[in-house]
Amino acid sequence: MSNKKIVVGNWKMNPGTVDEAKRIARKTRRAASKLEHTDAVVCPPFPFILAAASRKKYLHYHLGAQSASFETGGAHTGEVSANVLRDIGVEYVIVGHSETRREGANIGDTDETVSNRVIAVLEAGMKAILCVGEKNRDESGAHFDFVKDQMRKSLADVPKLRSQDVILAYEPVWAIGAKESMKPEDICEMAIFVKKIFSDIFGNDSAQKVQVLYGGSVNFHNAADIMKIGQVDGLLVGRESLNAVGFVELLKAVDEVKY
Ligand code: PGA
Repeated sequence: MSNKKIVVGNWKMNPGTVDEAKRIARKTRRAASKLEHTDAVVCPPFPFILAAASRKKYLHYHLGAQSASFETGGAHTGEVSANVLRDIGVEYVIVGHSETRREGANIGDTDETVSNRVIAVLEAGMKAILCVGEKNRDESGAHFDFVKDQMRKSLADVPKLRSQDVILAYEPVWAIGAKESMKPEDICEMAIFVKKIFSDIFGNDSAQKVQVLYGGSVNFHNAADIMKIGQVDGLLVGRESLNAVGFVELLKAVDEVKY
């Protein structure tokens, strides 16, 4: 396990106003500044990123984005480059979330575009939170091959030296926006599996350091068990990251986890 825990709040296409974004961010950074062993990252929609920033530096509070273009600039209508995100203070970028990969999605990610985005984020000097996860699972165990394939393709062009700036987020698609998270025991199995694949790609020394997150219906009730039993270094949180009260409790619960 890495000795630093991390909780990433993925706000998706929420909230509806800049005032609400400021309110959630204010509560989150106050809570983050009291943490000892955990970093909190908020990933608002692009127009709210600066609203979530503050002039004062808050310990353990970081800005993230939900995607980034793999182009560096120029004639790419509607896109936002990694360098621009870095320039406004973003330190982490979620890449390849299942909602950007799914058929009909606005962004329309493929393994190739995900791979290109990972590179663009790393080259801009930020950390890439690479999301992988199967759409569904059955007894056949095909989900292992699916996740392995996603990882291999998404990380194909990352030089070993830069692998330290990759964070793995295992998010089974069927557990996102669901009633319940995946069982912590099963999360543990997948956390070990994705580390093993990372080790096959970059070597054991890199795998020792990589942070593995779990995402999918995490809330303040289940966060500590998922961390402890699931043996993950952190969480990628959707809905609960918009509930300022619940998210503050979740951050505290994660900070107190001892493995
Ligand atoms: P959820 O979303 O916590 O609302 O299930 C997680 C995610 O999509 O990252």
